[in-house]
Amino acid sequence: MDEIEEIRSKIDLVELISESLPLKKIGRNFKALCPFHAEKTPSFIVSPERQIWKCFGCNKGGDVYRFLMEMERLEFGEALRVLAKRAGIKLSSYRPTQAEAEKEKLYQVNHLASEFYHYLLLQHRIGKKALSYILQRGISKDSLAQFKIGYSPPMWEGLQKYLVGKKGFAIEELEKAGLIIKGSKRNSFYDRFRDRLMFPLLDHRSNVVGFAGRLLKPEAKEAKYVNTAETLVYHKSELLYPLQITKEEIKKQNSAVVVEGELDAISCYQVGIKNVVAIKGSALTEPQARLLKRFTEDLVLSLDADTAGDMAARRGIEIADSVGFNLKVVVLEKYKDPDEAAQKEPEYLKKQIKAAENVYDFYLDSAFKRFRGKTAEEKKKIGQELIPIWAKIEDEIVKNLYIKKLADRLGVNEEAIILQIEKQAAKGAKTYSPPSKTPVRLRKEILEEYFLALILQAKETESLLDKEIGNLFSLPANLKLISLLREYLAKKKKFSSQFFFKALPAELKEAFNRLYLVDFSEKVEDKDWVAREIKKTRAQLELLKIKEKLQSLSQKIKAAENQAKEAAIEKEIRSLTQKLARLEKS
Ligand code: CTP
Ligand code: MN
Repeated sequence: MDEIEEIRSKIDLVELISESLPLKKIGRNFKALCPFHAEKTPSFIVSPERQIWKCFGCNKGGDVYRFLMEMERLEFGEALRVLAKRAGIKLSSYRPTQAEAEKEKLYQVNHLASEFYHYLLLQHRIGKKALSYILQRGISKDSLAQFKIGYSPPMWEGLQKYLVGKKGFAIEELEKAGLIIKGSKRNSFYDRFRDRLMFPLLDHRSNVVGFAGRLLKPEAKEAKYVNTAETLVYHKSELLYPLQITKEEIKKQNSAVVVEGELDAISCYQVGIKNVVAIKGSALTEPQARLLKRFTEDLVLSLDADTAGDMAARRGIEIADSVGFNLKVVVLEKYKDPDEAAQKEPEYLKKQIKAAENVYDFYLDSAFKRFRGKTAEEKKKIGQELIPIWAKIEDEIVKNLYIKKLADRLGVNEEAIILQIEKQAAKGAKTYSPPSKTPVRLRKEILEEYFLALILQAKETESLLDKEIGNLFSLPANLKLISLLREYLAKKKKFSSQFFFKALPAELKEAFNRLYLVDFSEKVEDKDWVAREIKKTRAQLELLKIKEKLQSLSQKIKAAENQAKEAAIEKEIRSLTQKLARLEKS
């Protein structure tokens, strides 16, 4: 057994997955809402005996390694190291792949850059101005250390000289990490971040993946914030600042306060709001929402006063809703953003977070504040703003509640609102729909799969495999599986999924796993139920086959060259039609 095998055998897949999502035992498998695509009914299945998982919605699946790679976005080697540690096995032979080595390099470069910037801010006189700026903004020395805030010097090659000259990195590595930018002259590069306050951005596993740099001078014409551009390790749409520090608290409280900027997050953290993350100025994205969902079910959005009504923020809210969060919104009437509130009146901020209102109440209040809602024209405007939002509320009870509330405040009856919502739906309003959908498959394919899955999962696979079964299938992979199953049973008498799987050729393994995880719940343990299902499915497959045959015969009869042939085909059609009628009756 090689190390990869050994580790796999020592780790319990169900236990590992349970740490990231709640698994529910159903029959001999476990089920959950898939963490890799948005869904309302669970299609993510885990088999404890086979130690495999599969989602029938988005088609992802595999073993312990694959799960960790997907869940934590790890390369194989990284997953291997994590699991080796968990299994208590020392790796001897493993060599990192090129992609892993490359990522690792980028983490290192970024890490050293963060140390460089941090040193300049705290220890060097070049950082004095920046230090006094950040302290004057009310950020404590402790926070500077904890968040490793730094300063990038006002030089074109400050960082390069340090990382290339002193630390021996290659210029290409700095470029790949997004720390330097190609200049106009050949082979010239300049530092991306100059004369800025630096916030290192870490992923939730504490790798430094990038930076945000803030201007010091308010009068400067450049952008207030410059961020690392997309790299192999930095993806803006996935980053939540500073999740590596706040994730434990978020989990503990089962709630995350979502703010916009780095300084909002730090100021909140400083006054004891430790379950905070920043989305860096843009709307909450789907990857961010999914990442957060692993730690909490409740989100409290505390956005800047001016973003609250903004469409982008609304899209973020829609996404959070579709991922299944309980969503609340904090309104800070007295301050422009959470940073200011935390600095000036932390108790007020905490109180507002506690009193955060449901997101739909927030929409309601905000619309009435802006449009008053007294005249018919104003009421119409409010309706126009809210109806599309109400139409997308997932939960019917919540939807009904807010239809009532809106009707009440507008002084109209509920039917009017419902009618508008229906009109909206008829127009085919664009709603947010999750990216992955099960491809539409042929009925035959589905029936074949169901049939074969029944046979494989039933307690007495041996006795279910009669002679004619092969005739019912048409997909090559299924035919192949059936014939291999026959061969296997001829030799072994008793079916074992483990041994059968081991003996399968590689190209059939995936198909087999899929069939093995089709979910019949505990019913599959019931012999009578299985027998009934087999009979039903078999009849349907036969029916389909006859229909197909009839179709091809009716083509043939048109092309028949002489009467004798025509008559023969006709006879066949008649007998098939009779058979079809009999089958349909039963
Ligand atoms: N942001 C960004 N790029 C920009 C502007 C903003 O990435 N050009 C992000 C930053 O993360 C910033 C957040 O959006 O913290 C909110 O932007 P804004 O409200 O403009 O800044 P403040 O948070 O108020 O910034 P500060 O408190 O530093 O003045
Ligand atoms: Mn601010």
